[in-house]
Amino acid sequence: MTYSLEKNNALIKHKLSILRNKKTGTKEFRELINEIATLLCYEAMKDVKLEECTIETPICKTKGYLLDENKYAFISILRAGNGMIDGLTKVIPNAKIGHIGLYRNEETLEPVKYYYKVPKDIKNREVILLDPMLATGGSAAESIKLLKEEGVKKIKFLCIIAAPEGITKLQIEYPDVDIYCAVIDECLNENGYIVPGLGDAGDRIFGTK
Ligand code: PRP
Ligand code: URA
Repeated sequence: MTYSLEKNNALIKHKLSILRNKKTGTKEFRELINEIATLLCYEAMKDVKLEECTIETPICKTKGYLLDENKYAFISILRAGNGMIDGLTKVIPNAKIGHIGLYRNEETLEPVKYYYKVPKDIKNREVILLDPMLATGGSAAESIKLLKEEGVKKIKFLCIIAAPEGITKLQIEYPDVDIYCAVIDECLNENGYIVPGLGDAGDRIFGTK
């Protein structure tokens, strides 16, 4: 399943337009990435199981529903995935956080692993995997493979911009992984960048170029 936030949502279209604009500076870019990540988190968590409880409002007793935050882990694909973490911990503050360090080889576009650290009990948690950009899908697919090797059973992938090429790759290789994006773009260019896209997400989040 692929869910796109922007479909029929004027405010998301507005926010994405500021994000895409090359004149938008690091501060505003970071804020928007986190803001959209929060909204994606609401969508991705819409159907999760809750525990019933009784609560007392100032007026009366009533039935309540609570999320067991210990059942989740956010896994960020470095570097750019880190730009989404604050937006997610804002709404699920107790989730554990892991990191998978991958960079794309500029010629082959294949992901190269340089770091891996996830919570010890990861196989008992549902994983929300984070990366603002799904381009060829190589980085996301490699991360999903590593997590499945650890025994993780349920993974949701959250990104800001998804290219059709990356969606197709994930749907073929990992049909059980749902994709939540803010928008699906047109295609990839000859350098593997998303068109129209927003450029290099990591560089824009961290101000490295
Ligand atoms: C970018 C992006 C994704 C990846 C997407 O990372 O953040 O991780 O490319 O491309 P793919 O779908 O073709 O794999 P990059 O390799 O530029 O590393 P960075 O986050 O450190 O800048
Ligand atoms: N990674 C990015 O940061 N941007 C793209 O357009 C593709 C991959």
